[in-house]
Amino acid sequence: MSQITVTGGKPLIGRVDLKGAKNLVTKAMVAALLGETPSVLKDVPFISDVDIVSRLLQLHGVAISHSEEGVMSLDPSNVASARMVDIDAHAGSSRIPILFCGPLLHRLGEAFIPGLGGCHIGDRPIDYHFEVLRNFGAVIEELENGTRLSAPRGLKGAKISLPYPSVGATEQVLLTATRAEGLTELSGAAIEPEIMDLIAILQKMGAIISVDTDRVIRIEGVKELKGYTHRALFDRNEAASWACAALATKGDIFVGGARQQEMTTFLNVFRKVGGAFEIEDEGIRFYHPGGDLKPVVLETDVHPGFMTDWQQPLVVALTQAKGLSIIHETVYENRFGFTDALVQMGAQIQIYRECLGGTACRFGQRNFNHSAVISGPTELHAADIRVPDLRGGFSHMVAALAAKGTSNVTNVQLISRGYEHFLQKLTDLGADFSYSE
Ligand code: EPU
Repeated sequence: MSQITVTGGKPLIGRVDLKGAKNLVTKAMVAALLGETPSVLKDVPFISDVDIVSRLLQLHGVAISHSEEGVMSLDPSNVASARMVDIDAHAGSSRIPILFCGPLLHRLGEAFIPGLGGCHIGDRPIDYHFEVLRNFGAVIEELENGTRLSAPRGLKGAKISLPYPSVGATEQVLLTATRAEGLTELSGAAIEPEIMDLIAILQKMGAIISVDTDRVIRIEGVKELKGYTHRALFDRNEAASWACAALATKGDIFVGGARQQEMTTFLNVFRKVGGAFEIEDEGIRFYHPGGDLKPVVLETDVHPGFMTDWQQPLVVALTQAKGLSIIHETVYENRFGFTDALVQMGAQIQIYRECLGGTACRFGQRNFNHSAVISGPTELHAADIRVPDLRGGFSHMVAALAAKGTSNVTNVQLISRGYEHFLQKLTDLGADFSYSE
């Protein structure tokens, strides 16, 4: 298990550069399976989620190369079934394999999906995915070690309505409908910028997709798709993470590649809390302008709301704000587990079952601890902590960097699932740390 020993209390100052969004790149790689010719994806980061998807694609005969500059070519000319035992070796490593279903059914008439992994931030069921696939005509057989799918009568367009605008289930529809026979109408779709970028990629491949008002997406199935060339949308989650790191450590970070348009909701909150930013053509500079940080009341939500992934690093900065902040998490029922470590470091955070500070959400009548009240400012002190998940882990690192004294943070390899060259970036920002495997 890898460990970082970090001496905090020093502002993070300098520049980091972003590559493509983890939550787009991995899906774009799966989309390449749908094409008859090779695809080229630019700005692909070196993160472990990309490695896992690469290995699964390679098992299915996709030839992949990934250059130092982040240019990935994916050649699906020789797509073939993979051995169940080889696929199963990837069980528990990622959530992306569920998106292989549609493309593999189109290419091979069958699919085997290993048990899923991903961050433990809630139950994370896949019932919407299975319902969607059944709507298209897939037959699903749940096995002890994974899921087998077939489509005895082919995949046919369908009218689908999602009970909640799930990002993954919307991607499932897109990746399945583009080559299904006939028309698909999806209502209740997620419309995150990463989904819009996936739609742009599919359009380049030859798909016909229209995004209508009120979360309705219509897809006219086509018989064949070709490869694409595309530069991936920047990682707005990583941008927000470094912005919060600048705020929490009283630092100043220029995030190269960050763009205003996909981050307006975050920027509003950042400003309200007392952070400052300057938008340039090349990126965004985030800094602590001095003075007290201010508390905030907010809810996480689907796009265009405040992203759930931004909540965790923001909470660390809010421990330094003067007054009571309230965060109501409405996307995942269990995303405040990471606050235990912050409390251990001196933060005052209480977690509640009730929907606090905003409208009632679907978790309200259930027994989920999904609202947090943060009382600040509190001085953070060093502690020994274990990274629980990707964003929670980043937050723990930021807390350790802001805290007085020397902290030991273990299980840090989880952070490399979503943050490219994380250690190098910490070095570039002047962090005082050492790393051991
Ligand atoms: N849900 C169901 N059933 C389903 C699918 C989802 O009940 O079949 C529920 C989930 O349990 C959750 C809600 O719907 O409560 C939203 O889940 P969604 O499907 O939107 O999330 P996802 O596709 O699994 C992606 C990102 C997450 C990000 C969310 C929300 C990827 C690989 N993951 O997850 O990113 O938080 O959308 O924007 O794209 C991260 O990057 O750290 C991360 C967790």
